Amino acid sequence: MAKKVLSGIQPSGSLTLGNYIGAIKNFVKLQQEHECFFMVVDLHAITVAQDPAALRENSQSVAALYLAAGIDPKISSVYMQSHVPQHAELGWILTTLTAMGELERMTQFKDKSSGKDSVGAGLFVYPSLMAADILVYNADLVPVGEDQKQHLELTRDLAGRFNHRFGDFFTVPDPYIPEVGARIMSLDDAGKKMSKSNPNPGSYIALLDPPDVIRKKISRATTDSGREVVYDPANKPEISNLMSIYAECSGLSLQQIADQYEGQMYGGFKKNLGEVLVATLEPLQQRYHEIRSSGMLEDILAEGAERARSVASQTLTEVKERMGFLPYR
Ligand code: AMP
Ligand code: TRP
Repeated sequence: MAKKVLSGIQPSGSLTLGNYIGAIKNFVKLQQEHECFFMVVDLHAITVAQDPAALRENSQSVAALYLAAGIDPKISSVYMQSHVPQHAELGWILTTLTAMGELERMTQFKDKSSGKDSVGAGLFVYPSLMAADILVYNADLVPVGEDQKQHLELTRDLAGRFNHRFGDFFTVPDPYIPEVGARIMSLDDAGKKMSKSNPNPGSYIALLDPPDVIRKKISRATTDSGREVVYDPANKPEISNLMSIYAECSGLSLQQIADQYEGQMYGGFKKNLGEVLVATLEPLQQRYHEIRSSGMLEDILAEGAERARSVASQTLTEVKERMGFLPYR
């Protein structure tokens, strides 16, 4: 049966291969069978300071990358989170149902706030807004990478809490996390996840990196000692990470890759991986540039937001009524 699917990505920098494999690839897959909402979560991005010009550019870039990757705006709603004010409104309501202790336990908050002199309150309540993003559509499924699992658990708890206090209303959503590729690691350190906020650009492949840059980054990626191409995350984390990337971008299984490179050294494997990535990303980049220059983005975002608002506003009316807010006309 068709389900409601919702996800979002922050416009806080250039998207990486981690975003693509962990999230966007699944967006594209799920839209064939389900009713999908894919947002650019600009309200989440401002939980750390954003330069206005960069925020504008990154917002358009993420939306265009969604489309370039194959999200079809005729069947999925693609829009900016800030164009649907009900997110912020339900976010506030859910914040009042969230305990400080729950937010203090969030590892993303701990990571992003550690070592900072001053931490914005928005970063702290970030997970309540994310819960609102999901619950406002009564989404059933949320495709995300592994790092978002804890936020999803809090969302489920908040849905249950609301239902318990105000009567059954919210759907309790399930995460949709890929088996391979849920956590693509840094190219320079397989102990850290690949991230667009890493100061070393050699640590990630940006989706818009030119082909030669992609090849160079892969050829310089750290590899484990030894020489066999085998999938063994505990003992060979670096090569296992490269194998996951290879598998996700070529459609081959990890075993097929191991068989193909049996008895060979890392060099040939990495060279071919570079080519696999270029073959995956070059067409995407071409479509991206076409979309950016076509001027079609604004209309698509307007249409997506309109569809989203019509669902979200019904939820808010019902939520507020259940909680005892006076209605207005
Ligand atoms: P963000 O860039 O933090 O807004 O993340 C957007 C989506 O990409 C979320 O679903 C993340 O879980 C996913 N994601 C980000 N980095 C990675 C990674 N290195 N591996 C897998 N998924 C990722
Ligand atoms: N917190 C997510 C991230 O950093 C982004 C996000 C915001 C999100 N709202 C969401 C993801 C709703 C899924 C559903 O990746």
